Amino acid sequence: MTLSQCYCFSLIITIYFSLLFHTLASPTQHFCRPNQRDALLEFIDEFPTDASNPSPWDKSSECCLWEGVTCHDKSSKVISLDLSYTFLNSTLKINSSLFRLSYLRHLNLNGCNLQGEIPSSLGNLSRLTLLDLASNQLVGEIPSSLGNLKRLRYLNLGANTLTGEIPASVGNLNQLKYLILAANELRGEIPSSLGNLSCLLELSLSANHLVGEIPASIGNLNELRAMSLGQNILSGNLPISFANLTKLNHVSLRSNNFTSILPSNMSGFHNLEHFDVGANSFLGSFPKSLFTIPSLQVVYLEENQFMGPIEFVDTTSLSPKLELLYLAHNNFDGPIPESISKFLNLGELHLSHNNVIGTIPRSISKLVNLYYLDLSNNKLEGKIPGFLWRLTTMTLSHNFFSSFEISSQETLIQALDLNSNSFGGPFPRWICKLKGLSFLDLSNNLFNGSIPPCLRNLTDSLTDMILRNNSLSGVLPDIFASATELRSFDVSRNKLEGKFPKSLINCKALEFLNVESNIIKDKFPYWLGSLPSLHVLSLRSNEFYGPLYHRHKSLGFQSLRVIDISHNDFNGTLPSYYFSTWLEMTTLPDEDDRYMADIVNPFLFYRNSMEMVNKGVEMSFERIRQDFRAIDFSGNRIYGRIPESIGFLKELRLLNLSDNTFIGDIPRFLANLTKLETLDLSCNKFSGQIPQDLDKLTFVSYMNFSHNLLHGPVPRGTQFQRQKCSSFMDNTKLYGLEEICGEIPSPNPTTSQQPEELSDSEEQMFNWVAATIAYGPGVLCGLVIGHIFTSHNHEWFTEKVGGRKLRVTTRAH
Ligand SMILES: *[C@@H]1O[C@H](CO)[C@@H](O)[C@H](O)[C@H]1NC(C)=O
Ligand SMILES: *[C@@H]1O[C@H](CO)[C@@H](O)[C@H](O)[C@H]1NC(C)=O
Ligand SMILES: *[C@@H]1O[C@H](CO)[C@@H](O)[C@H](O)[C@H]1NC(C)=O
Ligand SMILES: *[C@@H]1O[C@H](CO)[C@@H](O)[C@H](O)[C@H]1NC(C)=O
Ligand SMILES: *[C@@H]1O[C@H](CO)[C@@H](O)[C@H](O)[C@H]1NC(C)=O
Ligand SMILES: *[C@@H]1O[C@H](CO)[C@@H](O)[C@H](O)[C@H]1NC(C)=O
Ligand SMILES: *[C@@H]1O[C@H](CO)[C@@H](O)[C@H](O)[C@H]1NC(C)=O
Ligand SMILES: *[C@@H]1O[C@H](CO)[C@@H](O)[C@H](O)[C@H]1NC(C)=O
Ligand SMILES: *[C@@H]1O[C@H](CO)[C@@H](O)[C@H](O)[C@H]1NC(C)=O
Ligand SMILES: *[C@@H]1O[C@H](CO)[C@@H](O)[C@H](O)[C@H]1NC(C)=O
Ligand SMILES: *[C@@H]1O[C@H](CO)[C@@H](O)[C@H](O)[C@H]1NC(C)=O
Ligand SMILES: *[C@@H]1O[C@H](CO)[C@@H](O)[C@H](O)[C@H]1NC(C)=O
Repeated sequence: MTLSQCYCFSLIITIYFSLLFHTLASPTQHFCRPNQRDALLEFIDEFPTDASNPSPWDKSSECCLWEGVTCHDKSSKVISLDLSYTFLNSTLKINSSLFRLSYLRHLNLNGCNLQGEIPSSLGNLSRLTLLDLASNQLVGEIPSSLGNLKRLRYLNLGANTLTGEIPASVGNLNQLKYLILAANELRGEIPSSLGNLSCLLELSLSANHLVGEIPASIGNLNELRAMSLGQNILSGNLPISFANLTKLNHVSLRSNNFTSILPSNMSGFHNLEHFDVGANSFLGSFPKSLFTIPSLQVVYLEENQFMGPIEFVDTTSLSPKLELLYLAHNNFDGPIPESISKFLNLGELHLSHNNVIGTIPRSISKLVNLYYLDLSNNKLEGKIPGFLWRLTTMTLSHNFFSSFEISSQETLIQALDLNSNSFGGPFPRWICKLKGLSFLDLSNNLFNGSIPPCLRNLTDSLTDMILRNNSLSGVLPDIFASATELRSFDVSRNKLEGKFPKSLINCKALEFLNVESNIIKDKFPYWLGSLPSLHVLSLRSNEFYGPLYHRHKSLGFQSLRVIDISHNDFNGTLPSYYFSTWLEMTTLPDEDDRYMADIVNPFLFYRNSMEMVNKGVEMSFERIRQDFRAIDFSGNRIYGRIPESIGFLKELRLLNLSDNTFIGDIPRFLANLTKLETLDLSCNKFSGQIPQDLDKLTFVSYMNFSHNLLHGPVPRGTQFQRQKCSSFMDNTKLYGLEEICGEIPSPNPTTSQQPEELSDSEEQMFNWVAATIAYGPGVLCGLVIGHIFTSHNHEWFTEKVGGRKLRVTTRAH
């Protein structure tokens, strides 16, 4: 077999196997040798069998015909054993009968559920050319005796749990063409002896914990086609000798700690198709020489420190096969070059999070294969050219675009994100013509006027409709009769008025509904309780009125996770069973499919963001944590007792009932809500004592009982003692506050003098006296500080106090 026959890296297994088996004999008519037969049978007996997992072989038949067994056609010795995907479920013993099959050339035990260590005696099977133990549960170190298998051409130990370092003896395998150790727990550096493997075609060490630099000896592997070192902790510079690997076709150095520049002239990599250095700290200017390589198809440079303008060599022949170009999250500046139009096969261009300026060049119209364009988070401006409506996905958010060109051609757009630009004027009606549109985000612009009823034309296909924070006015049109795919609907922070659209009842897929901060005047839409997947409902700061409860109609809301109806005009009482059907606040669902989808497709992961809890503190939930459960009923006129059924909502993290007219004792069953992080009961008419049982709420970081009619001792638990003094102020007679409040100047300090802003100190430790000065009653009601981080990337939310940024914390770990 010549080297060039082994060319294709991605189909190695298939191709290599078929090539190898061609060169081997097919099963023969010769009888197998008794000693070989016995060794095979004893070997298979080393693994447990039972009725559901019988031995693969029929002992009475000719062993050279057994499945997976191949004998030499002259000598009848067993030369190949392929039991891949046979469920063996045990260890390979150090004295296994396998090692009596000393003529074996191929041993394939891929996916056999092998456990335990790789026995060092494998090194005795000196005729092996192929050894595949991948996709098992092997542990321990790679035995250095494998360095004895001098004839090996293919060694695959990937997808196990192997530990320790890569033995230097692997460098002895100088016939090796494929070395695959990916997806293990290997540590240490890449041994420089790998530079001895001068026949190597593929080197795959990705997804381990390898450290240090790539050894310079790697430059000797001048037959190498594929090099996958991604997802390790490799660092430093690429060796200069890297430029020697001119036959490379596939390179992945993704997700390491490289701080290198790229070779200054990359045009020598004349076979390169796939080049991935994403998620490192690579430096330097745009690698323009890369884009002269004719074979180039896919380039990932994103999440690095590249800088300067994006520019291409001035030639007519730029990589004609380039399909995917990822440049996001770098420091590129300057305009998008007109010459980008020379990549006639470009399908996706990802340029987000750079400092690119200027307008979208008209030459992009020549990119007839382009379907995905992400230019978000740059400094682009001007008009969006009409020909772009034939793309399927366009993300232009966080720029300064201000107008559109309307297309006369067919439009194919499915996802359109124009969030946070400078668009203004009436709602663009031509959007109603974008048949097939699924994701629409026009939020944080200056669109005004009414929402046109023609949007009804899109509701068959729309999954996300995000119009938040514009100046849209008039009545929210009742256009959702056929919106059965709609998952997210957000018109918050506009000036919409009138009734709440009843046709939303048809949106059986709805998960996220936010109409916060409008002037909608209607009764509580209790019928939303029948929507099977509704997770988040915010009606906050509107003019909703009347009771939250309609006899026989209020049940449902089985999937609700977050509800914020604060700052409306709801009144009436809640019956004791009010919350009894709110199942997703009672137990977390077993598995969250949505969570997986979020990772795979960012558009499914509509930034389910909302602001919750106000009066002084405004929290903006960039992305709502999957296990976050919250109820905010504050700022209404709800009265009566807290419904007992709230004690079922064991997953609740935030409960805000402040600023209503609740009466009676603070119920002991609140102690059932053991995951509570925030509890605000301030500004009601609660009487009696604070139940000592609330000491059990060990996760609570913020509580507020102020402005009630409470008396008696404050519980001694540490989470009580950590609270600010102001959380207890203005009650009838609470005591035991010495440690919380320091010296108490007067028994009932409620009067406010001149309001002051909160201090900048992160802990905001203000004492009783300061609190009295800073806040009068009313201002304090509903002051809630909590912390919520997202499931997706563990970013913490931003808290704002009175519009001022108080604290931004990123990364929870
Ligand atoms: C695999 O082996 C383990 C013991 O090592 C045993 O507990 C388990 O039941 C076996 N699995 C099956 C499916 O036979
Ligand atoms: C492997 O070879 C070594 C000598 O190189 C010998 O000591 C050992 O017994 C052999 N193991 C098996 C299982 O044959
Ligand atoms: C392997 O060694 C174990 C003890 O270490 C012994 O029980 C077993 O019979 C041996 N098996 C073979 C095939 O020699
Ligand atoms: C393998 O490489 C090491 C270090 O790079 C070197 O010292 C050794 O001589 C080489 N062995 C062979 C057999 O080439
Ligand atoms: C690069 O390749 C040349 C020949 O192709 C060889 O002479 C040189 O030693 C190699 N450099 C390194 C660092 O391996
Ligand atoms: C990788 O680099 C990052 C930042 O450059 C650093 O914080 C991190 O500690 C590095 N990791 C290792 C294992 O060196
Ligand atoms: C880059 O290298 C190629 C050959 O590998 C050579 O033809 C070309 O002249 C070099 N370009 C520059 C600018 O050095
Ligand atoms: C909406 O659809 C109706 C009927 O299909 C059509 O008459 C109307 O022109 C469409 N409106 C827009 C703005 O596309
Ligand atoms: C609302 O949009 C404007 C731009 O129109 C932006 O400046 C402002 O920050 C946005 N407000 C919020 C709360 O996102
Ligand atoms: C919309 O805003 C524009 C200015 O951008 C203004 O001229 C126009 O009167 C506004 N229309 C409405 C309905 O408010
Ligand atoms: C609730 O408020 C409405 C006015 O918004 C009033 O008409 C009604 O009587 C109130 N209901 C109760 C039970 O207080
Ligand atoms: C509180 O929890 C206890 C034990 O889990 C349970 O017996 C009780 O019914 C719960 N109370 C309420 C009001 O849910």
